[in-house]
Amino acid sequence: MNKPIGIFDSGIGGLTVAREIIKTLPYEDIIYFGDTARVPYGSKSKETITRFSKEIVDFLLGKKVKLIVVACNTASSNALPELESNYKDIPFVGVVKPSVKKALSLAKRVIGVIGTRATIESGIYSTVLGDRFKIVQKSCPLFVPLVEEGFINTPFTREITEFYLNPLQKENVDALILGCTHYPMLKNVIGDVLGEEVNLVDSAVEVATFVGELLDTEGTKNNRRTPTYSFYFSDIPQNLSKMVDRFLGRKVEIEKVFLG
Ligand code: DGL
Repeated sequence: MNKPIGIFDSGIGGLTVAREIIKTLPYEDIIYFGDTARVPYGSKSKETITRFSKEIVDFLLGKKVKLIVVACNTASSNALPELESNYKDIPFVGVVKPSVKKALSLAKRVIGVIGTRATIESGIYSTVLGDRFKIVQKSCPLFVPLVEEGFINTPFTREITEFYLNPLQKENVDALILGCTHYPMLKNVIGDVLGEEVNLVDSAVEVATFVGELLDTEGTKNNRRTPTYSFYFSDIPQNLSKMVDRFLGRKVEIEKVFLG
């Protein structure tokens, strides 16, 4: 079935997921939507995050997608259940379950979860992780703006990372879920601060594998062909194009679309 996969995020973080999907499923068309006009979602209420997410789903359905990847932890943890019950004809893949599955396979005693405030406060990770392991969670609100500004390898990024991760180190976490699609961009500094004995779970890789399995099960994988990619954003600020290329690891055209 040669229909595209829809992927959305509050902004550019979901491009880390899009990048992995492109790598893992090279014949799939992709329609990406990033809500750059209304980012961040991480500091907004569940009601608002759900309303924005529904508008994006309507947009993607208009593009005839066969599957929607909610490539945003904040939207996955606050809006996904309502999306699933409102739009029954389209399969959704969120970022929480694939990451949890991986973390449960890697952890020995203590699982750490980092994410935006809205993700951590939703309590979704403790619910889905269950009680097999001790869970330590921490919201890291400065990580998203640091990534958006391109401050990846600066001394202050390292200092902030140490500050956020210190409580997790004290609890001896041995697996850490990067519960925000921006955080894979900080994987090196996070890994450096925690040391190599702590396994980092990058939701992008897990989601791409999960999407491939789902397309196989549903029999909706695209035939071998050259895919097309479309990247839509609700606002195109000055440095967006550069950021998109950096997150995606390739140069692409971006288009502005107004929602709401
Ligand atoms: N990409 C979002 C997430 O995964 C974080 C950015 C935001 O706060 O909107 O939670």
